[in-house]
Amino acid sequence: MQFTYYGHSCFAVRIKGKNILFDPFISPNALASAIDINKIPADYIFLSHGHEDHIADCIGIAKRTGALVVCSFEIHTWLNNQGITHTHPMNTGGKRTFDFGTVKCVVAQHSSGLPDGTYGGNPMGFIFINEERNFYYSGDTALTLDMQLVPQFSPIDFAVLPIGDNFTMGTADAIQAMHFIQCKRAIGVHYDTFGYIKIDHTQAKLEFEHQNLELLLLSIGETLDI
Ligand code: NI
Ligand code: MN
Repeated sequence: MQFTYYGHSCFAVRIKGKNILFDPFISPNALASAIDINKIPADYIFLSHGHEDHIADCIGIAKRTGALVVCSFEIHTWLNNQGITHTHPMNTGGKRTFDFGTVKCVVAQHSSGLPDGTYGGNPMGFIFINEERNFYYSGDTALTLDMQLVPQFSPIDFAVLPIGDNFTMGTADAIQAMHFIQCKRAIGVHYDTFGYIKIDHTQAKLEFEHQNLELLLLSIGETLDI
């Protein structure tokens, strides 16, 4: 599976030839100024929640690519009202099979207001189950005991977890999350973008190593074969 990091919590995977983009926040991110959003391919856009730092470029990319946007029912309605109608609503606990594989929506412990103040419904995490690699993207979340359910739904090859602290889990809680989901390899997201969430990369990786876990911190624009 190909994994590309676009900064903050925005990343893409390629499964069965489909380009799946998550939480597009690129043009407002000074650290991602080298990324041309007009060149990002997308067949699907998954939104974990409605905060600006997860949906800023959603409408633009959805309009250009015609991607199917998968999100909470409330965000789906909000997008529909803005002319983005190729959407698919889901909610926590729900599972659906798409042409690239199956996605299960799981609990995230966070909030989800849209940029104009509209209620965005439940924040969500996603478990992707497919023929290439199974992974869990937690979305913005606190550490929560619900994560213990993740390996009961599917074994996980890697996890994409926020590690920037302040608004979400920091590294210590992300390490506990790795134990809950029974996974050894994490890709860190939601760090360094703002002053509140700046982290020490070396220290973060060491904390994971001490627990026999691997933390990957990708450069913005980097693509990894995972
Ligand atoms: Ni958030
Ligand atoms: Mn966020």
